[in-house]
Amino acid sequence: MKLIAELIAQEEALEQVVVKGWVRSRRDSKEFSFFTINDGSCQGSLQAVVDQGIPGSETMTQANTGASVAITGNLVPSPGKNQKWELQATSFELIGESPEDFPLQKKGHTREFLREIAHLRPRTNLFGAVFRIRSRATYAVHSFFQERGFHNVHTPILTTSDCEGAGEMFQAVVPDKKEEFFGEPAFLTVSGQMEGEAYASALSRIYTFGPTFRAENSNTSRHAAEFWMIEPEMAFCDLDGDMDVAEEFLQYMIKDTLQSCAEDLAFLDKFVDKGLITRLEAMASASFARVSYREALEVLEQSGKKFEYECSFESGLQSEHERYLCEEHFQKPTIVYDYPKSVKPFYMKQNADGETVAAMDVLVQGIGELIGGSQREDDLEVLTKALEAHEIDAQHYAWYLDLRKYGSVPHAGFGLGFERLVMLLTGVSNIRDVIPFPRTPGNCKF
Ligand code: 4AD
Ligand code: MG
Repeated sequence: MKLIAELIAQEEALEQVVVKGWVRSRRDSKEFSFFTINDGSCQGSLQAVVDQGIPGSETMTQANTGASVAITGNLVPSPGKNQKWELQATSFELIGESPEDFPLQKKGHTREFLREIAHLRPRTNLFGAVFRIRSRATYAVHSFFQERGFHNVHTPILTTSDCEGAGEMFQAVVPDKKEEFFGEPAFLTVSGQMEGEAYASALSRIYTFGPTFRAENSNTSRHAAEFWMIEPEMAFCDLDGDMDVAEEFLQYMIKDTLQSCAEDLAFLDKFVDKGLITRLEAMASASFARVSYREALEVLEQSGKKFEYECSFESGLQSEHERYLCEEHFQKPTIVYDYPKSVKPFYMKQNADGETVAAMDVLVQGIGELIGGSQREDDLEVLTKALEAHEIDAQHYAWYLDLRKYGSVPHAGFGLGFERLVMLLTGVSNIRDVIPFPRTPGNCKF
C-alpha cells in the first residue's frame, strides 16, 4: 500500500499499487466512474478511473462522499492538466460506506459549523493543512532544542503550585471523597517553569513541551483552557540571552515551515490568509524590534491613537496596545522588556531601578503576545521577600528556594503558546481551529 503523498511525488509510472483513502467525490458515466480519493497524507488528492466490470466495481455506486475505499491499479500519466498521475483501477473495494447524511458533502462550510463536527473536520483540506503543519512544527521544536544542547524534561501535569500566581487553576478532585487524594489541594499545571528551573539548575539547558491549563474566563480567539506550551530554561543566561534564543527559535520555526510545508502553505495563502507566505518570509529574515516597556509607553503616547484602555506605567499593556506596537508601529515581531514589577509574577529578576523586572514578551502581528519570559530571581533573600510581598507561603516553595540556596546561578527562560504559534504559521485566526478538540469556557465536547 502506498500513501497518496508518495504517489504524487513519483518520478515514474507504477504497476499494481494499492491506494486506501476516503472518497471526496465520484462522477459516474456509463462505462466508468471517476473518483477523487484523499488519505490526508498531503494536500493533494488522487484521481482514480474505475471501469465497470472490474472486480468489486458492483459496489462502486455505494461509495459516496466520505466512504472509505481500497483501489488497486496502475499509476499512469494523467491526461488532465491539474495532476501528473492518475490511477487506472484494476480492482475496487468498498471498505466502509458513508450514508448521504455525511456532513461534509459540499465545500464551503463555516468554521463555526466545522467546530461542531470537530471529529470530522480533519477530513477537510483546511484542517488537513493545519494539522500537518502542527505535526511538522512539533518535530521542529524538538529539532531546534536538541540541536542546541537542550534536554527535554517532562514536568508534572498535577501540581500544588500556582506558578503564574494568577489563581486561574483547575482543581483536581476525586468525586465523593472527603479527604484530599494528595493530602493537600492539587491542580492542573499552568506552566512547567518551576520544575524546569530545577532541571536547568542541573542539566544547564532544558525545555518542556506539554499541556498546560488555565481556568481564565477569556472568550477570545487567542485563549484556550487547555493548550500546549514550550518552555526552555537556561542556566547561566540573562535576559538578553533569553531574547536571543526566543528570536532565533521563532525564526527557525518559520523557516522550517516554509521549507517543509510549502504545499499546505500555498493552499492557506490562497484560501485562508492572502499574503501569509510573504509575511512569514519577512519575519524569518529581518531581526525583531526590541524596546523597553518605558519606550513602548512613549511610542503609544506619541501615536496619537485613541485606545479603548489608557495605558500607564502601572497598568501593563492591553492587547490593543500590543498589537499597535507590532502591527502598526514596528510592523514586525516586537520584544518588549523590563516590565513594571507590579504586573508580573513573583519569580522575575528585579532590576536595579527597584521598579521593573527583567521580563520580556514577544508580540507578533495578528496575535499579540506569543511568548512570555524572564530572567529569574536568583538571589535567595530577594526572592524570599518577593514571595512575602505577593503573600505567598514561603514554606510551600521551600524546594524552589533551595535552588537559590545551593549553587544558585543567573538563569532565564520563556514560554511559547504552541497554538498561538500554529496560528501564526497557518494564518488561521481562531485558536479553536488549530487544536484538534478545543477546550474553552462552556465547551469540553469530544
Ligand atoms: O506569559 P505566560 O503566562 O508565561 C508563563 O506561563 C511562564 N511561566 C513561561 C516561562 O517563562 N517559562 O504564558 C506563556 C505563553 C503566552 O505568551 C501565550 O503564548 C501562551 O503561553 N498562553 C496561552 N495560549 C493559549 N491560551 C491561553 N489561555 C494562554 N495563556 C498563555
Ligand atoms: Mg504572559
